[in-house]
Amino acid sequence: MTEIPCFGAFPATRMRRNRRWPWLREMLQETHFSPANLIWPVFVIDGVNQRQAIGSMPGVERLSVDLAVKAAERAASLGVSSVAIFPVTPPEKKSDDGQHAMEPDNLICRATRAITEKLGTKIGIVCDVALDPYTTHGHDGLLIDGVIANDATTEILCKQAVNQAAAGATVIAPSDMMDGRIGEIRKALDQAGYQDVIIMSYAAKYASAFYGPFREAVGSATNLGKGDKKTYQMNPANTDEALREVAMDLNEGADIVMVKPGMPYLDIIRRLHDAYHVPIAAYQVSGEYAMLKFASQSGAIQEKECVLESLLAFRRAGATSVLSYYALQAAEWLGS
Ligand code: PBG
Repeated sequence: MTEIPCFGAFPATRMRRNRRWPWLREMLQETHFSPANLIWPVFVIDGVNQRQAIGSMPGVERLSVDLAVKAAERAASLGVSSVAIFPVTPPEKKSDDGQHAMEPDNLICRATRAITEKLGTKIGIVCDVALDPYTTHGHDGLLIDGVIANDATTEILCKQAVNQAAAGATVIAPSDMMDGRIGEIRKALDQAGYQDVIIMSYAAKYASAFYGPFREAVGSATNLGKGDKKTYQMNPANTDEALREVAMDLNEGADIVMVKPGMPYLDIIRRLHDAYHVPIAAYQVSGEYAMLKFASQSGAIQEKECVLESLLAFRRAGATSVLSYYALQAAEWLGS
């Protein structure tokens, strides 16, 4: 056990003295949260002027590209740093091998192009690299003889990443958890002339039950069925393993590393921050959003206060930025 340092004791020391007035509490505040720290995940669908509610995520909508552009404009005007685009692929475009991920005109590429056209570099565009929106089995990789084939998947992910970079993605975010894909994707991007495209690696991504609402939102839940992603996503019981995952991705060229889910994994963020001092993104995932939203709707908690507290907690734990479905709303709250 470490010794408790002695800086004085009560009554000479009164901790409450430093909490007396608002100006004092603000002066002594150790961490801050601003819209610039936020990344907003947005679900996109085909069509024009279309918006669809998502049952397990009240307040979040799937948007057609034209409306996603408007939403991105609003986000940029509120100071939100970037949007992360998640496509809802029509079932007829899904296949065993997820070929649609490589189509230059797929939904994520169209959304990326449309937002870039309208906003240029006023907002970052994060594109997810993984095959799950495109596969009939709902897995992030190629399923060969009942196994997710690592190296064959990586080859496809490289093409997917280059396809997204060509559409204007500023950040490529591999969320698939294959081994060695960061190095390969970096190489592929560089070879294609995209050496300035950022890689934000979902480096410590856990096989979590908190992704449920997301899978409903993008329509991959029925594809995955009773399957799980435990042979590639991490065991929620592990923490040393996260240090190793992140170290490998950094050595392969990751610019930003991510921890996901967020709130139940603040200890992982803290350890990574203390160990490596690198940019860390935290993902407040769909299940966390649902918990906050449904608890707020029932009147059990105060939404604004709890959401802003949860976002601040990520920063306190050591996260540089936070992906949150509350991003737009939080930016509005912070600005008002
Ligand atoms: C898929 C992906 C997932 C999320 C982001 N990218 C789900 C999964 O791994 O099954 C989850 C996001 C959320 O729950 O909000 N590669």
